[in-house]
Amino acid sequence: MKRIDHIGIAVHSIEKALLFYRDTLGLSLERIGEVPDEGVRVAILPIGQTRIELLEPLDEKSPLTRFLMKRGEGIHHIAFQTKNIEETAHRFEACGVGLLGKPRLGAGGARITFVHPKSAHGVLIELCQSDPPLPHEPL
Ligand code: CO
Repeated sequence: MKRIDHIGIAVHSIEKALLFYRDTLGLSLERIGEVPDEGVRVAILPIGQTRIELLEPLDEKSPLTRFLMKRGEGIHHIAFQTKNIEETAHRFEACGVGLLGKPRLGAGGARITFVHPKSAHGVLIELCQSDPPLPHEPL
């Protein structure tokens, strides 16, 4: 694992959440985008080599809608940047760690998959590999 890539926070409204994360905390808003495959609208707020991602459901069918109903707003997942996601996925499977799907294309062209929270003591872990590596990343 190279670093924490981002922390995903589930919110009802990105606009309302920006009043705290951008205006009070002072993070800068890089952009707001949509990831229709995951059913989310995402606001990206970089800080150092990582970023906060505010996640808002795109519609009622979004898995995030269920998360918000069950758990309310809060930390949704922590994403780790890995050097080689295929190798990491193989190693995890060999250790009996449950993955939620094979590594696949996610937001911003990164390859991603998720580790089941049962294997990670209650935390949804995202594994991601940016391809090509971001310029500020150490090799
Ligand atoms: Co994520």
